[in-house]
Amino acid sequence: MKKDLLKLLDLTREDIHEILDTADQMKFSQKHRIAHDHLKGKTLAMIFKKNSTRTRVSFEVGMYQLGGHALFLSGHESQIGRGEPVEDTARVLARYCDGIMIRTFAQAEVEELARKASIPVINGLTDFAHPCQVLADLMTIREKMTRLEGLKLAFVGDGNNMANSLIVGGLKCGMDVSVACPEGYDPDPVVLDFARTADRKFELVRAPADAVRDADVVITDVWASMGQEEERAVRAKTFAGYCINGELMKLTHPGCMVQHCLPAHKGEEISAEVFEAHADEIFEEAENRLHAQKAVLYLLMRD
Ligand code: CP
Ligand code: NVA
Repeated sequence: MKKDLLKLLDLTREDIHEILDTADQMKFSQKHRIAHDHLKGKTLAMIFKKNSTRTRVSFEVGMYQLGGHALFLSGHESQIGRGEPVEDTARVLARYCDGIMIRTFAQAEVEELARKASIPVINGLTDFAHPCQVLADLMTIREKMTRLEGLKLAFVGDGNNMANSLIVGGLKCGMDVSVACPEGYDPDPVVLDFARTADRKFELVRAPADAVRDADVVITDVWASMGQEEERAVRAKTFAGYCINGELMKLTHPGCMVQHCLPAHKGEEISAEVFEAHADEIFEEAENRLHAQKAVLYLLMRD
């Protein structure tokens, strides 16, 4: 494993499987009340420049369960919000803490933080990637389907941070990946370059029906991500046909799963009916954020 978790493009297939296997062990230990204090005395600084429920709570609870401590730094209330350079913040936090989790806008800021900090840096979401979420998604799919290799993953919606990370994570784990986005909302070109050289099937289509046909797992996300609030009305029109509903689900493989990173806008990217029919899978996915992140914290921050 590398020092940091910045994006799935940096990980090998073996790295991803090591995280998923460790995450399964973390989940087993928690269910059987086997305590682990692998990170006793260690502190994780959590920098949030965007809102969060799941990421904040699961990292904080995860550190506590591993015997360590997490502290919350809001972009607004810390000096980061007043323009203190990220490279200075990194060098200060490295003298107090043992790891940094950051949720921000630009991927370049996270990469710079990691270059300057001597301690591990974890990407808790940027505009480009959401690696922790997709590790939890892969864990959930493998848990239910017993494998990843050979399954078809379909993503319908905006070519955003989730789409980018799902394409990379899915292909690296041996899945076929099919993505439906409206024109002008494609995934990042770096991700598309990676996808086109992967040894699994990848397709980028415009019609959701073409993406979900025979899929084993269908995934979607909000039409307007954090930072795009002003585009909501325009996007609502552009994405109107990109709702995962009962009609689309009829095209999928029998037993097809549905995943959503949450928060969901029911009636927009997913119908309330499909959401509720797959709620167990979606909330298992949310739970698995905790286990997958404990695995990442352990692998990056242990002595
Ligand atoms: N899925 C996810 O990252 O949720 P939060 O924005 O609540 O952290
Ligand atoms: N694409 C969404 C994911 C939220 C977890 C966003 O960036 O807001």
